[in-house]
Amino acid sequence: MASLPVSQRAIVIEDVGGPEVLQYRTNYPIPTPKEGQVLVRNSIAGINYIDTYFRTGLYPSPKPEVLGREAAGIVISFGPNTDTHGLGVGDRVIWLGTGGYAEYTAVSVEKTIKLPVGIDNEEATACFLSGLTSLALVHEAYTVRAGDWVLLHAAAGGVGFLMTQILKRIGAKVICTAGGPQKVALVMGLGADHVLDYRSSDGKDWPQLVSQITQGRGVDVVFDSVGKDTWEGSLQAVKRKGTVVWFGNASGPVPSLPLGRLSAKCIKAARPTLLGYIHTREEFEFYAQKLFNLILHDNLKINIHKIYPLAAVQDAHLDLQGRATVGKLLLTLSRD
Ligand SMILES: NC(=O)c1ccc[n+]([C@@H]2O[C@H](COP(=O)([O-])OP(=O)(O)OC[C@H]3O[C@@H](n4cnc5c(N)ncnc54)[C@H](OP(=O)(O)O)[C@@H]3O)[C@@H](O)[C@H]2O)c1
Repeated sequence: MASLPVSQRAIVIEDVGGPEVLQYRTNYPIPTPKEGQVLVRNSIAGINYIDTYFRTGLYPSPKPEVLGREAAGIVISFGPNTDTHGLGVGDRVIWLGTGGYAEYTAVSVEKTIKLPVGIDNEEATACFLSGLTSLALVHEAYTVRAGDWVLLHAAAGGVGFLMTQILKRIGAKVICTAGGPQKVALVMGLGADHVLDYRSSDGKDWPQLVSQITQGRGVDVVFDSVGKDTWEGSLQAVKRKGTVVWFGNASGPVPSLPLGRLSAKCIKAARPTLLGYIHTREEFEFYAQKLFNLILHDNLKINIHKIYPLAAVQDAHLDLQGRATVGKLLLTLSRD
């Protein structure tokens, strides 16, 4: 095995704040994998909205911290007494964990999986966390069936772009929201039945439009990752005995909700996280294989908004929070 460099490039945050707290370092120590961990030399990392929650402190986490919940790369070594789950040094893998904005990360082997031939590192990272989230939500948060009416917010985003396609493959009737004509056109191209521009004057009363489209009935389920700005409309748009799945806070968190708000229409509410659905190795592999099959055999479209150099991570966070992106943002860790 080639010897490791003494230090690496990484993005470190010492304290919470705006994008300016993301500090580019060239002398960050390379971690030593502990029991149960694998050391991965990352080539590409995913940027996810959750990274902004840890950066701003919306989700508390110990600092200093290297952000980044996923990356793809090559296995370098394992911690002592580690069940490698069939992985070997030199394997091309993708992982979920923490510390992806760095050239090397020590992560749990449990959440690391070999990448199949035919899926490159960029494609994989562009849809791993987002795709697993989409699959777990439509199978478990609410089991979507053919013919269901579904409302999906922010459908041109990293998760939304994939979830729209997955919902159409199930045979659901999909109403999406997206901000601006370019995003609307992109989502229509994915086969959505209706796309409402909730930032336009025509689309701002989107709960009413959803009611018209469903002939007053409402949708069976809403998948809402926008949170503060949409939660109330989502309650209006859902049908009697329907389900609202709140799974993100892009505009800010959903305020504390009196349970009584659910009574009038007998609504079910869910507030899930991906990790809750892939806690065991079996669950993780189940959804990862499902995703790989969709990419390899079912023509899942993947949209990479932009691949940013590691040193440009602040720009990436600004673009993501500025609603200026479609599909997935990636960070390259390769030096060339
Ligand atoms: N629960 C989980 O386990 C889980 C896992 C993965 C992701 N998520 C959530 O899923 C959502 C999507 O994540 P992502 O990484 O794929 O991000 P993304 O969808 O690519 O970006 C967020 C999108 O939210 C929309 N948005 C609406 N109001 C906004 C506002 N005030 N500020 C910024 N954006 C706003 C924007 O689309 P428009 O311009 O079209 O409105 C924006 O592009 C996030 O809320 C994330 O936290 C949750």
